[in-house]
Amino acid sequence: MKKIIPLALIVFASCQNKHSVTDAATSLQYANAGDSIVNITADSLRNTLIRKIGEEGLAGAMRFCKVNATGITSALAQEGISIGRVSDRPRNIYNEMNERDKLVWTEYTYKFANHDSLRPALISEKNEFHFYKPIFVQQLCLNCHGASKKDIPDSLIPVLDSLYPQDRARSYKVGDLRGMWHVTFKKEAPKETKKNG
Ligand code: HEC
Repeated sequence: MKKIIPLALIVFASCQNKHSVTDAATSLQYANAGDSIVNITADSLRNTLIRKIGEEGLAGAMRFCKVNATGITSALAQEGISIGRVSDRPRNIYNEMNERDKLVWTEYTYKFANHDSLRPALISEKNEFHFYKPIFVQQLCLNCHGASKKDIPDSLIPVLDSLYPQDRARSYKVGDLRGMWHVTFKKEAPKETKKNG
């Protein structure tokens, strides 16, 4: 079952019982919040990368293509919000997709192949909202995610190989679909659990 709500935002509502019905206004609030959080984090990450490449070169900047390198994550955690990125070809195996991620990804890859625009998605589960937004490859990214030797400098390849022996995040081109942002919002504790406490 799939429900489309205004602003062309996709809400996937699963048929399983653990998923609750959420009104469209609440979904929109979370979708807007998710979008802002992703935009701020993505800008911050990009600026940090550019600065660190200038200061320390590509090898030095390597550890700054991490969401928690932005310093935004701990402030969000206090609000019960977490942000991360997932990919079907991750560099860090920690960023592998789970079943829910794959549900959205399947939709994205299908649309991407058909040259449709990819819009943010929101999934409502019993205790959480999950917001997703696609990530595309830009010129800057090729330094570390492009083709070995052609885009990635020779000197960087042994560094990548030793840090990420299972690296699958190379050979991308500008405009490729690289992965997805994923923001998790905790919902308030469901009422029935309060009976015991
Ligand atoms: C200086 C090298 C460098 C640059 C430039 C760079 N990345 Fe990365 N990227 C990395 C490294 C290293 C990781 C693994 C981080 C970790 O261990 O969590 C990574 C991880 C990622 C991930 C998480 C999924 C995965 O593969 O583990 C995404 C998504 C990503 N990069 C996208 C981008 C995009 C988009 C750009 C351009 C805006 C970019 N990167 C630029 C080095 C880089």
